[in-house]
Amino acid sequence: MQDHDNEVTNKSGNTPFTKVLEANLTRRNVLKGGLAASVATFLPATASAGWHDFDKDDLKKHWRKGKWGRKGLMSFTPVAVEDGSGPMPAISPDYQYDVILPWGDPIEPSGPEYSYPPSAADQEKQMGIGHDGMAFFPMKGKSNKHGMLAINHEFGTNPHVLGKSDPESLEDVRVSQHAHGVAVVELKKHKGQWKTVNSDNARRIHVNTPVAFSGPAAGSNLLKTPNGNVPLGTVNNCSSGATPWGTYLTCEENFNGYFGATNMEQTWTPSAAHDRYGFSEGGFGYGWQNFDRRFDLSDKDYVNEENRFGWVVEIDPFDGTQKPVKRTALGRVKHEGATTVIGKGGRAVVYMGDDQRFDYIYKFVSAGNYRRMIRQGKSPLDEGTLYVARFDENGKGEWLELSTNNPLLSNFLVGESFASDDAMENILVFTRMAADVVGATPMDRPEWTTVDPEGWTYCTLTNNSKRTEANAANPLVPNNDGHIIRWKDSNKFTGVDFEWDIFLIAEETHDTEDTFSDPDGLWADPDGRLFIETDGGQKDGLNNQLLVADTKTKEIRRLFTGVTKDEITGLTMTPDRRTMFINTQHPGNGDPTLTNFPAEFDGVTIPRDCTIVITRKDGGIIGS
Ligand code: FEO
Ligand code: CA
Ligand code: CA
Ligand code: CA
Repeated sequence: MQDHDNEVTNKSGNTPFTKVLEANLTRRNVLKGGLAASVATFLPATASAGWHDFDKDDLKKHWRKGKWGRKGLMSFTPVAVEDGSGPMPAISPDYQYDVILPWGDPIEPSGPEYSYPPSAADQEKQMGIGHDGMAFFPMKGKSNKHGMLAINHEFGTNPHVLGKSDPESLEDVRVSQHAHGVAVVELKKHKGQWKTVNSDNARRIHVNTPVAFSGPAAGSNLLKTPNGNVPLGTVNNCSSGATPWGTYLTCEENFNGYFGATNMEQTWTPSAAHDRYGFSEGGFGYGWQNFDRRFDLSDKDYVNEENRFGWVVEIDPFDGTQKPVKRTALGRVKHEGATTVIGKGGRAVVYMGDDQRFDYIYKFVSAGNYRRMIRQGKSPLDEGTLYVARFDENGKGEWLELSTNNPLLSNFLVGESFASDDAMENILVFTRMAADVVGATPMDRPEWTTVDPEGWTYCTLTNNSKRTEANAANPLVPNNDGHIIRWKDSNKFTGVDFEWDIFLIAEETHDTEDTFSDPDGLWADPDGRLFIETDGGQKDGLNNQLLVADTKTKEIRRLFTGVTKDEITGLTMTPDRRTMFINTQHPGNGDPTLTNFPAEFDGVTIPRDCTIVITRKDGGIIGS
């Protein structure tokens, strides 16, 4: 189920500025040749693993200490390949872990306890399933023991959630819908243990929670249905981001799979836009459309309902009454994550991957200084410019504007049955199709992005077994195990030109102790460490894993491995970076004969997604 983002819906044939690499160029040469010299510049960068916001003084301190790239940036003993398989996690002997917030735990101590299968009413007050992106928001902006944690619940299959392959009632559908979305909990560390506390701001946001639209496409006909129903819900919340103004960004990835067509009222025939976003009669098999008309593509009262998904959604973790806001200025794609940094002139810059084979990397730049916009009562995410990336062969690239200012898009319209004749609205609702027109570079499944202290933005390209033609930025044919690309934008994140190189090719690590495949989660810390999480078949029997790389030397060490058939994802830290939270998603793929994790911690024998709390035994900085 987690592999549905493997499908190919980009038929644009975009291979701009690419030439098939000479057949005799080996992959190792590709790696060596791709490395442009990087000059250390001194940027007041802001990066986010949740709250994280490091300023110029921090950076100066690090420079004075000579911390970057020095020997011993990572001193921990790695998990050996031979120890990283089986039904239980493994962690470096210098570290320890604890388990919190499994699927079905109440989000507040006073809430309903786990039962299996859950009722829809209970599930609405419990942790969802499919733990993914998350962010820790410390109390008073600095507590290391008390904060709000927002967690995405990407997906859970019907067999795992319901104990059967198809829903048999609306109640079953509601259970599944309530298991998706986002949880916001208030966490406190007490006697060394993190626990939820009762909280005004703890809440579950799921598929039926009222939401609002904002930005240039908010009032568009493309986001209205013939029956005028109000916008509800968020789904397939994959990776995430945190803004410098203290909000959570949750990203809707494979939303297409929750829609299907019953063909009861009329025969559904997919439009070009449906094809481009991967809608199909059966969806991913959730069967919601059979009991909830909102998800029936053939229901004429709900035309356009599907356009309401595929957005970046902003949540205030400190206001339990706030209506989540879908930010249309950031475009509609299968959003993997949204990493916000502060660029020139205080503008908010958001990097975003669209995770599907041959899809694109996007960037949004706010119209003005983010603090000033907020003072004026505007969201920095409502006014600005959206771009898509074109990687050229010479280690250079360009951000292509996705707006009516671009002559290629001045009359961009997608003919739909309940349509808009406003070109900008069409660009934002059918962003993938606009990006096809301007000649973006088709990538090998862009997942997470992160920005390091020197201003390089990294993006995981998890794999693409269907690639038959190389381009400079995606040189492997096929690309079975993925790579990590990085670029540095001109004009302190805000410019349209960039330089790029390939940071790591997973295949290069095979047959070594550093072996990894399918990079996905990513976070750069302020010292120059890059945390890499994997999601896919690893070599040598390894489970999915968390690795730490030195961005200067490219040394890699394995910090943690998960359990059979899980995915390691989600990554956030306390401000002192002495506590790290990560997630195991779909342990055992829900099959209790493969693993009962975390039964050893809670006695429940159905494997459950949960959050892993990692600390160094000596109390040191995580990754060191
Ligand atoms: Fe939800 Fe592309 O990972
Ligand atoms: Ca996943
Ligand atoms: Ca992912
Ligand atoms: Ca993935």
